[in-house]
Order: sequence, then C-alpha cells, then structure tokens
Amino acid sequence: MPLQQPTGTAGASAYFLVFTVRPGAEDAIRDFLAGLPDLTRSVSFRSPNQDLATVVGIGSQLWDRLYAGPKPEQLHPFREVRGATHTAVSTPGDLFFHLRSSQQDQCFSLAKLIGDTLRGHADVIDEVHGFRYLDERDLLGFVDGTANPEGADAAAAVFLPADDPFAGGSYVIVQKYLHDLDAWGRLSVAEQEAAIGRTKLEDLEFADADKPSNSHVALNTIEDANGNERDILRDNRSFGTIGTQEWGTYFIGYAADVSITETMLERMFLGVPEGNHDRVLDFSTAHTGSLFFVPSLDFLGNQPPRPGAETPADGSLGIGSLKQ
Ligand code: HEM
Repeated sequence: MPLQQPTGTAGASAYFLVFTVRPGAEDAIRDFLAGLPDLTRSVSFRSPNQDLATVVGIGSQLWDRLYAGPKPEQLHPFREVRGATHTAVSTPGDLFFHLRSSQQDQCFSLAKLIGDTLRGHADVIDEVHGFRYLDERDLLGFVDGTANPEGADAAAAVFLPADDPFAGGSYVIVQKYLHDLDAWGRLSVAEQEAAIGRTKLEDLEFADADKPSNSHVALNTIEDANGNERDILRDNRSFGTIGTQEWGTYFIGYAADVSITETMLERMFLGVPEGNHDRVLDFSTAHTGSLFFVPSLDFLGNQPPRPGAETPADGSLGIGSLKQ
C-alpha cells in the first residue's frame, strides 16, 4: 500500500485531482489526512495486484491554515514564469492527489472515496484521468520518462534528507498542458526530433553538438557547479477527450529541492539566452500550475497543532518524529 511514495513503478493509469478547501474546514481536513492511510488501504487491500500508489500534497496557503510552527522551507504558491512568448501560469490548489494503478477502476474507486469524504469541505477544481500512451510515449509521439533517475538516485532526488525537519517529504509541481496536435503533426519528424532533442522511433538522445539550444532536453538538463546533473522525478501521463478536442500531457515533477524544477521552468519559458524558449511550448500550452508539499507518512499520523492551538506541554515544536 505505497502512500507518499512517488518512486517505484506503478500502473499505467493515473488520476490527478486538485481541490480547494472551504473556509472553516481545517479540522475536517486534518482528520481526513490522518485517516488517509486507512482509506487507501480499504481499496488497495481488496485489489488483486496491490499496486495502487497514492500521494497527497498540501498547498502553501492551506499549510498555513492547518499547521502552526515550522513549514517546509521551499513551500510557497507556484511562481508564474512569464516569458516573452509563453507563460507558465499559476493556478490555485490546496490539496493534490496523485493516484496510480495498473487498473483504472482502483484509481476511480479511491478517488470516489476521497471525493465523498471531502464533500462539503473541499471542491475539485481540476481533474485529469491520465494513461500511458502506446510504448511509454506522450501524445507528441516521443518516449517520455527515459532520463528519469532510478533506484537510490530517484530517492535522493525526491525525498528530503534525514537531517531536514520534514525528512521523507517531497515537493511536487504539476502543470496541465494542452497540445496543438494538428500543428505538431505538420512538422517533419526531423523538426519534431529537433524540438525534443531525441530521436522519435528509437528514443536516442542527440549528441550535445547536434542538440538545438531551444530543444526540450537541452533546456531541461541542469548541472551543479561540479558538473553533476540535477535530477527531478517525472511521472507524466497523457490524457484527452475527443468531444472537446482537448488533449495533452499532465506534467508532474517531484523534487527534494524544488528550485531545480523552478529553474527548469525558467529555462523553458524565459529561454536561454532569454527569448530562446523551449520549442515544445510553441505546440503545447500550460493551463494550470501548482506547487504542493508531500509530507511523510509519519507526519500525516502525527500532525503538528493548528495555528492558535496551545504549544504542546513538552515544549517541543509538536511535529513528532518526522522520519521517512
Ligand atoms: C508538454 C509538456 C512536456 C512534454 C510533452 C515533455 C516531454 C518530454 C520528453 C519526450 C522528454 C525526453 C525523454 C525523457 O528523458 O523523458 C523529456 C525530458 C525531460 N523533461 Fe519534459 N516534457 C514536458 C514538460 C516538462 C516540464 C514542465 C519539465 C520541467 C519543469 C520537464 C523536464 C524534463 C526533464 C528534466 C527531462 C530530461 C532531460 C534529460 O535528458 O536529462 N518536462 N520531456
């Protein structure tokens, strides 16, 4: 029953839900969060393959309403990135759910329970039912996720380290992108490959010398002062509805240091040098953008006091033992 574990493989189906929380619902939300492990288990235990993975994230403004005392250092409202041509918009969001399973019925089943429990306290403002498309491709036709870190590297990229007061937690940024597939389809395969920075059929990365500076891969490859690549963990899914002709990529990036994801967004939308923006953005538009903190499982079961509540008698910060 992986809860708060975005690493590791889970199924091809994913539900992404963003809620805003009504004023006065703070206690109900705290109770809900404490009960989430049991709620999740009621669905996962009945599943034959037991691969339902659930993540809940808390937005900056809701955090301030729920908890007194220390706050994850990098938790703030998503910062809009306004480039000369394209903008990474910032949209509201108090609670975020990322549900993954090999069976869509499990995602639905848990999402329904979550919705029922939150009814009257919180409202869904964005909902996407994602799928893995053909052989791990996004709707642009390119394999997505190849350069993700794996194993211990993924855990290091995602989880706050043991010496952090919120150890085992993570930051997550989500954006819903809608694609103009007609315009993309008018590009030649060579032009599409130049936009991504990898080959389409075999998913081979271009040599640095051949990679256009405005390609998606070039702009999203970030190194520290020692030349080490700085990773985030992505778990994008495709989605779409035929009637409304809306389809695209739900971007989701987990990071222990959210400034890495934010730097990627700046490089994509502002461009390097400025104005030389990510070519993919000419065919894909961000319609949402939010940042959440994903607390550890221990935190959910041992939440700090509400603002205005008395300090615990033991004089501690009241955040319990926040290990992973
Ligand atoms: C329309 C939305 C997006 C699409 C369709 C998309 C698609 C892709 C594809 C096809 C790749 C190459 C294969 C791979 O390594 O996964 C890739 C790589 C990557 N993308 Fe995206 N992506 C999108 C948005 C984003 C955003 C918003 C970010 C960061 C904020 C991002 C960060 C990355 C990173 C870090 C890589 C790996 C670069 C490397 O090779 O080291 N992507 N993406």
